[in-house]
Amino acid sequence: MLFWPVLLILLVTYLLNNRRYRWIYILYKTLPRDLTAGYRFLKLNLRLSKWKRNRETIPKVFSQLAEKHPDKVAFYFEEETWTFEKLERLSNQIAHYFKSKGYKKGDSVALLLDNRPEYVALWLGLSKIGVISALINTNLVADSLFHSIIVAHCKALIYGTDFSKAVSEISDKIKDLEHFEFGSKSFDDEIKMQPSTYPEEVESVELQDKVIYIYTSGTTGLPKAAVVSHLRYMYAAGGAHILANLSSEDVFYNPLPLYHSAGGMIAVGQALLFGNTIALRKKFSATNYWSDCKKYNCTTGNYIGEICRYLLAVHKPGTKVEHNVKKLLGNGLRPQIWNNFINTFGVQVYEFYGSTEGNSNLINIDNTVGAVGFVPRYADFIYSVILIRCDENSGEPLRNKEGLCSACQPDEPGLLVGKIQKKMAHAEFSGYADEKATEKKVLRDVFEKGDAYFNSGDVLIQDELGNYFFKDRTGDTFRWKGENVATSEVEAVISNIVELKDAVVYGVQIPGTEGRAGMAAIVDSDNNLDLEKLASGLRSKLPGYAIPMFLRIMDSLPMTGTFKLKKVELQKEGFDYYAIKDHRLYFYNAKVAEYEGLTQEIYDDIVNGKMKL
Ligand SMILES: *[C@@H]1O[C@H](CO)[C@@H](O)[C@H](O)[C@H]1NC(C)=O
Ligand SMILES: *[C@@H]1O[C@H](CO)[C@@H](O)[C@H](O)[C@H]1NC(C)=O
Repeated sequence: MLFWPVLLILLVTYLLNNRRYRWIYILYKTLPRDLTAGYRFLKLNLRLSKWKRNRETIPKVFSQLAEKHPDKVAFYFEEETWTFEKLERLSNQIAHYFKSKGYKKGDSVALLLDNRPEYVALWLGLSKIGVISALINTNLVADSLFHSIIVAHCKALIYGTDFSKAVSEISDKIKDLEHFEFGSKSFDDEIKMQPSTYPEEVESVELQDKVIYIYTSGTTGLPKAAVVSHLRYMYAAGGAHILANLSSEDVFYNPLPLYHSAGGMIAVGQALLFGNTIALRKKFSATNYWSDCKKYNCTTGNYIGEICRYLLAVHKPGTKVEHNVKKLLGNGLRPQIWNNFINTFGVQVYEFYGSTEGNSNLINIDNTVGAVGFVPRYADFIYSVILIRCDENSGEPLRNKEGLCSACQPDEPGLLVGKIQKKMAHAEFSGYADEKATEKKVLRDVFEKGDAYFNSGDVLIQDELGNYFFKDRTGDTFRWKGENVATSEVEAVISNIVELKDAVVYGVQIPGTEGRAGMAAIVDSDNNLDLEKLASGLRSKLPGYAIPMFLRIMDSLPMTGTFKLKKVELQKEGFDYYAIKDHRLYFYNAKVAEYEGLTQEIYDDIVNGKMKL
């Protein structure tokens, strides 16, 4: 009789042991997510194994799709429609053309061209004869352009007519390279004369061979050319497809540059490997994003950097945007605007984290606000992407007496590293065209002597449910008058006051004062910013120390090619009257609680300490 109650008490005591209880709670919270992810991860690996077994490569998979549905649309671009067959035939002609010019497996060619379907046809065609395309960032000029071409050991340069000027500026430095001008009559005509048959060289290309170089900017130094093999490309595009549960009927909207992994691999890969239709745009435009999606019936799309913020900034509150997009994939959605974004546009976001070359890839599949992905904490041994203790300022890993590193506890910030395992697509680190740069990204002797991990260089936090959060993404802060100011909070207040205008907040140094004063750069291309309304709005919503001391009015905010704000540049220029040539600068006069024009005299007085703010 006593047996059951005693057992029950024993069981409850056992479970209530704090740690175990915690684990049961965690499992209860995460099991549905983990089962879904586990199933999809297995599916991805089965797909990759099948491709490996059949010795497939990107052009081979694409040719099969083109044969299966020749008339299906591969690309919409402006008013053009490109079927799978059209893309297949043009890429074959490109392969024959470059073969006739003597290009062969292992050569590399630089590609400098705006977004358009021919961009994909060019690198796909070159890949059919084993030639690697170095996808050059179209914003580069002069030294950085030259550097990008040289670092990938290119034998030739294919460039669009729009880039003739940038090319001619470095022409005497790249005399040895053969030049091909896309859009010139001679080049286009010669391509058209080629046979459109499948080139036999496709057979000599292997899954592990390089197919493209994609440049990663990194935080310092010149761009590095990251090696992308067929397998790596398949892993990136396949990972997005399968983990975000896309179907081959999804129409994917891509306004992002094709020379980056988000546009060139994750988006384009859906067409090349899964037969999806892609709606391609030459250049991102916030005002055209949803109307394009509607026009091309897109069901999914992508974003990067500050794009989500822009989409919100141009959206009139209270109005409904018509479109059929269900899912957006991307990287850079800020936690502060996450809910507003998904509710306003009615989409699920699949925020991911990863690098073109690295092996630490994560994706958020369950809409956890702010998370860039997850790894169940009991699954480290299957998917070795881990946070290790580091110096928070330098990001250098901390090592113990034996010279080894240690893993972080939940909620403890750490450096994200991924175990390098050869022959496993998800754990491989392909490195860069430049070997020395490759070795710099490898950490050795991490948990045991002789092991090797890819060093992402990013500091993240993992919660007990396994979700990863970007530490810096929570918005940076600066100190002013002994108080912490969160830039994202001030940005949010500003954007509420000055609807439809973009703003960014940062701290600037004033000689002779402690900490940093707040400064806001506000976009006012229509010249109708109401400074009085702004000042009174800020005063009612923010404590005095958080009100930006300086304003800078701009026509647009400086952006990188991946739509990241160049905050550091803004910060460097600060409120320097002499450096900012248009002098559209204001300072907050606390006595009258208003913004007033920053003149040369006032600037000098502030810098010389004659005027106190
Ligand atoms: C995944 O997609 C399939 C069909 O495309 C759908 O039937 C299924 O419900 C989706 N799964 C989830 C979890 O959304
Ligand atoms: C989008 O869908 C509508 C109706 O379903 C159709 O009439 C139209 O042709 C489609 N547009 C494209 C670009 O596929």
